Amino acid sequence: MKKKIKKNIKKNIGKIVKIVSRDQTDVLLNEQKWYKPLKTIVKQAKIQDLEKMRKEAARNPLKFWENAAKELAWMEPWKKVLEEKKAPFYQWFVGGKCNIVENALDRHIGTPIERKNAILWEGNSGKSKRFTYGQLYRAVNRMANGLKHLGVVKGDRVVIYLQNIPETAISMLAAAKIGAVHSVVYGGFSAHALKTRVEDAEAKVVVTSDIGYRRDKTIDMKSIVDEVLQGCKCVQKVIVVKQNNEPTPTAKKRGSRRDTPRRVFPETHMEPHRDVFYNHLIAHESEECPTERMDAEDPLFILYTSGTTGTPKGVVHVHGGYMVGIHKTFQTVFDIQSKDTFWCTADPGWITGHSYTVYAPLMAGITTILFEGVQDYPKPDRLWNMVEKYNVTIFYTAPTLIRALMRYGDQWPKKHNLNSLRLLGSVGEPINPEAWRWYYTVIGQKKCPIMDTWWQTETGMFMITPFVTMSLKASSATKPFPGIQAEVVDAQGKKVAPGKGGYLVIKNPWPAMLRTIYKNPKRYLETYWKKIPGWYLTGDMAHKDKDGYFWIQGRSDDVLKIAGHRIGSVEVESALVSHPSVAEAGVIGKPDPVKGETIKAFVVLKKGVSIGARHGEELKEKLKNHVRHEIGPIAVMEEIEYIDQLPKTRSGKIMRRVLRARELGQDAGDVSTLAD
Ligand code: PRX
Repeated sequence: MKKKIKKNIKKNIGKIVKIVSRDQTDVLLNEQKWYKPLKTIVKQAKIQDLEKMRKEAARNPLKFWENAAKELAWMEPWKKVLEEKKAPFYQWFVGGKCNIVENALDRHIGTPIERKNAILWEGNSGKSKRFTYGQLYRAVNRMANGLKHLGVVKGDRVVIYLQNIPETAISMLAAAKIGAVHSVVYGGFSAHALKTRVEDAEAKVVVTSDIGYRRDKTIDMKSIVDEVLQGCKCVQKVIVVKQNNEPTPTAKKRGSRRDTPRRVFPETHMEPHRDVFYNHLIAHESEECPTERMDAEDPLFILYTSGTTGTPKGVVHVHGGYMVGIHKTFQTVFDIQSKDTFWCTADPGWITGHSYTVYAPLMAGITTILFEGVQDYPKPDRLWNMVEKYNVTIFYTAPTLIRALMRYGDQWPKKHNLNSLRLLGSVGEPINPEAWRWYYTVIGQKKCPIMDTWWQTETGMFMITPFVTMSLKASSATKPFPGIQAEVVDAQGKKVAPGKGGYLVIKNPWPAMLRTIYKNPKRYLETYWKKIPGWYLTGDMAHKDKDGYFWIQGRSDDVLKIAGHRIGSVEVESALVSHPSVAEAGVIGKPDPVKGETIKAFVVLKKGVSIGARHGEELKEKLKNHVRHEIGPIAVMEEIEYIDQLPKTRSGKIMRRVLRARELGQDAGDVSTLAD
């Protein structure tokens, strides 16, 4: 293996030089070009003296966050801003009583905001719904009462497995209102992925729908849930949102998973004593429901995300610090004005959907858009059509989507009047300069600054981000949010020189930080706090330039970013080895111009599994479908290669770094620990 790697490196040496120098010129070119903010934007910005805000927050971060907390409603004030005694199990706003829903809904009632649009929803098929704050408040209360009648009490976990429909946000808010803990599972995840999450969370209730829509397909959500719940002891009730009353256009091709062409579904199977339709549940419920008084540190939600082992981590966020962190960052970074219509394209199944599609816009009392469909269905101008139709002022999306739409050409956005846009945002992965410039020029028409916000499921809120008054550099997330101390360090925790790459760490606690990994505090300590003691390890590599601007380079661990979605290499490997033909598998991410990364798997087949040329290809297709079925459609595997043996350390760990180096023709670095 070592010999082979050396040979490969030699063969590819020319390619390496080219790759390295191209990357460097890209970075250099961009570091030299500044994009200055327009005077009109600076003039109306709420934060006029950003440097002053930075200095004050740096001098006294606790005062800064305490002032931020005072902008929100509390049922009882806190006694202490930060408790560090059990660090890194930090506690914020200790002794404070609150509920995020009081801020997101209750406090708008009886004010002019009550009549404003809270949610504008557009479905996959183009039909739309809207909820004013008053209507949303009443819908949430009815659902909250419905949950109570099913026996849900404070602290119970409610799993929400839906597509991006209004009931997703309603269920989140309803659970939070009565003090239950929601755990939204992305509606594109498979039965296996759903099962691990339902079981780990020990959910009492699952909210789902009979079917879901995606492009010209229907997804049989309820039967996925039925499969998951076979033998499941914790779930007592299933609430089913009825979606099956859409027109049924005929579809062209049949997909895998349980995606089927549009058709009228037979009556949904409802398990007696367990399942109840959402509309039946809320039919006679009151439109008023008291908001539960929560301790600031009581959990609000668990959101599962991929890590370096096969089991996803249940990231725990709490009411108090989370609401303060997302409110302050949202208001200031996006420079929120009361007339804004904000559109974050993220599904509520991801953290972006939690923080900045649902909670922060509602706390700000502005209009937020929920979109069930996809960016290029039925045509590649779907999003631009919606920007025009709803007069979107702030548009926040992921680089993979920008790259995908850029490929269709400028004619699609140019068909629409995008003049309502004031600000643009990017999140989820590094945005390459080409995509940044297209977004800035074609979508933002050189008048909308791009807020390239770096953060994570764990951080809950923006951590490194521009402000509208800042000069930008294409592809840099710029500087840490005031009060956040981010740094780039080496493996020993020593700050590296400007321009040098290293580990991105956060040196001080922040209010919206995760509190723990659900039922696994040891994993919390080991993942984030052990490698560089005392500081939060983000898992990302970055460098800082001479102006103090941060450039995120990607993950330092075995977490993949496929079209902005986080998937652990080990999760994909476990899915592969669950196939009867596979003995072992090693998975890496390969750079991809649209998706950022794609999955390549190296597979060792079980003894006795023979593969001729044809059978080998057939098996590859089967394995791809198998992984899709085990994880969900986000786990698209581009390539599979059969090999005899995986490179491993003497202790048996797969050396993915060696596989990656072999694949990309790069130096594998230190291979002294290779077993064979
Ligand atoms: O690698 C970073 C990348 O996304 C990771 C976090 O993924 P997740 O928890 O799924 O949350 C995504 C949405 C907040 C980070 O560790 N990432 C996120 N934002 C950026 C980014 N990489 C570069 N630039 C960003 N703006």
